[in-house]
Amino acid sequence: MNIFKLTNVSTAFFLLLCSNANAQFYNLSTPGTSLVIEAPQNGEAKLIYYGTKLSENELNEIKSSGFNSFSAYPVYGMNCQSETALAVKHYDGNMSLQMEVINVEKTNNEDYVQTTLTLKDKIYPLYVNINYKAYNKVDMIETWSEITNKEKGTVTLNQFSSGYMPIRRGNVWLSSLYGSWANEGRLCQEELTPGMKIIKNKDGVRNSHTAHAEVMFSLDGKPQENNGRTIGAALCYGGNYKLRIDTDDSEYHHFFAGINEENSAYNLKKNETFTTPVLAFTYSEEGLSGASRNFHKWGREYKLANGNKERKILLNSWEGVYFDINQQGMEQMINDISSMGGELFVMDDGWFGNKYQRNTDNSSLGDWTVDKKKLPQGIEGLIKASKKNNIDFGIWIEPEMTNTKSELYEKHPEWIIKSPKREATTGRGGTQLVLDMGNPEVQDFVYEIVDKLMTENPEIDYIKWDANMGIINHGSNYLTNDNQSHLYIEYHRGFEKVCQRIRNKYPELTIQACASGGGRANYGYLPYFDEFWVSDNTDALQRIYMQWGTSYFFPAIAMASHISATPNHQTFRTIPLKYRIDVAMSGRLGMEIQPKNMTQEEKELCRKAISEYKTIRPIVQFGDIYRLKSPYDKDGVASLMYVSPEKDKAVFYWWKTETFVNQHLPVITMKGLNPEKRYMVKELNRIDNEPLVFEGKTFTGKFLMSKGLEIPYTHKVDYHKLNDYASRVLYIEEVK
Ligand code: DGJ
Repeated sequence: MNIFKLTNVSTAFFLLLCSNANAQFYNLSTPGTSLVIEAPQNGEAKLIYYGTKLSENELNEIKSSGFNSFSAYPVYGMNCQSETALAVKHYDGNMSLQMEVINVEKTNNEDYVQTTLTLKDKIYPLYVNINYKAYNKVDMIETWSEITNKEKGTVTLNQFSSGYMPIRRGNVWLSSLYGSWANEGRLCQEELTPGMKIIKNKDGVRNSHTAHAEVMFSLDGKPQENNGRTIGAALCYGGNYKLRIDTDDSEYHHFFAGINEENSAYNLKKNETFTTPVLAFTYSEEGLSGASRNFHKWGREYKLANGNKERKILLNSWEGVYFDINQQGMEQMINDISSMGGELFVMDDGWFGNKYQRNTDNSSLGDWTVDKKKLPQGIEGLIKASKKNNIDFGIWIEPEMTNTKSELYEKHPEWIIKSPKREATTGRGGTQLVLDMGNPEVQDFVYEIVDKLMTENPEIDYIKWDANMGIINHGSNYLTNDNQSHLYIEYHRGFEKVCQRIRNKYPELTIQACASGGGRANYGYLPYFDEFWVSDNTDALQRIYMQWGTSYFFPAIAMASHISATPNHQTFRTIPLKYRIDVAMSGRLGMEIQPKNMTQEEKELCRKAISEYKTIRPIVQFGDIYRLKSPYDKDGVASLMYVSPEKDKAVFYWWKTETFVNQHLPVITMKGLNPEKRYMVKELNRIDNEPLVFEGKTFTGKFLMSKGLEIPYTHKVDYHKLNDYASRVLYIEEVK
């Protein structure tokens, strides 16, 4: 169905250039969707349609259907009342734009077709390329623009969105993520009403603690997980962003997304081209989960670093020992995770600093040399211990930062971000400062931190890259006075340059994007990172809500999810180990705990869970998500499942979110299975004294999807083990 007008159609073709005499229509197609653009020579480029795939005939029908069309890239100056994607001040002070199509070019690639519309201002030699990349294996279309200045002098870009999409009004609901530190990825669903909805970030360094740069639009009323026409959009950018949805007096909601231009006016020099970040769109008629599956496939295949490689099960030292790093303690943790079947140990903060020891968060960032008092055998000693235990070794760094108490700051006070002529504003520990990533010397320094670590210790398998501070006061010692407004943009250009250098040299290295928890969950980072830390909050119950929201856009393979101690260090809630395991197992499983403090029985449960996770890992990490029952519905239970692409295996998660006596919970019906196939059900991480009634029994996919299983609300365990939590993980396998 058409978000602009047309009716439901299905057959389609790849890319059609209409041969009609006067119309230059372009049908940009993915396996199941079409984006239709009209681009007449010397006329205005217009968006005609975005929705389910159109056949050639149906495309021709557009003209007689009474469609509405909108500028593909609205510009400011000749229709001043409307929201725009691009607003500039020309070299001579003129503030208006009027763009016409001068060329359309199509390039084919094995994975996508790229269509570039070249627009030129009718008077000024200012050019805009609007690019659309339509994938041929996944239902995603990426758009971005390139603005080129051929005028006599500098052009100021006051607004420079990545793209625009009109969305037909009619009970359209927006799903977006919001939150804060330790509560990231919270889902917000609201009906779009007249006025302007703005979703933005101004942190400067990280961009997903609070709002997220991804949204979904449900076109058929209140969002449903598995039904309804849904448009998803993700701005792929690590810096400040702004998403605008303007519901004006027209029949449309107008969606714009791009770099947040506030305090970031860009002086585009003569002959310079400014490239915006990518804005990716998807469309599904299978509800929010359908759109998520599209995001996940595209994410794994084209965005995420090493998206097709299974992730290792790890123990991270942070919540286990915090800054208390020493050789013996690390070796004990290495030994413990190995004995539970883990595959990787990661040493977190606290291992470095020479002149200043890193014993708390107020010193030493930038001094990336091993603290030999804590680790006399250095990193080498820990790698040796890991190898001896048949596991890999990883390490924490926070390379974009320094502290006033550090050798780096003493040597290079000019490298930090701060307002000229003013005192620096410090962050974490009262001493933390952000390095000026726009400065090429800083870029080299940051690159060399990783390069030196890896050159000296080529067996390092994993890096946890942290970032615990945003830009608090504006100013760069490197940028010229008239380009101070480039600070945020140059920071991220510099950051990306460093990441590209690292990835060119170390493509296989696993790198986690951590930023005080979930500050870097964005597809702008993920080409350089294998995964992200969803949140510093490891409380299993709260994680259900956070991981639910995060899963709208990001696949489980990218979502680091760890079993931690009880009472939880953030919420102080006491949750039984079984439930903590069952939640962590729905993402990239890891541990964040001091194993020394665990009982043998607890270790045994973890050992079993790790072993079972290895069986289901390919389904969790590469399967299709079906979210079944939202925790946000407040019905006392949350549930989701992953299904293998062949539909021969699935993992079903069921978590009770509250407990009352005489409680009535809905039966959860499954999704995504083959109705014709027979599946055997097996419970994983079982703690009950007796098996579930359906253990080892077989059911048709049809039965599981229409009737569902009656899951007991409590666990049958010895009296002293009873508690108010219940959860189940079911492994579902086709019986041939
Ligand atoms: C913040 C991260 O989110 C934590 O996981 C941990 O690595 C600390 N920083 C270390 O300082």
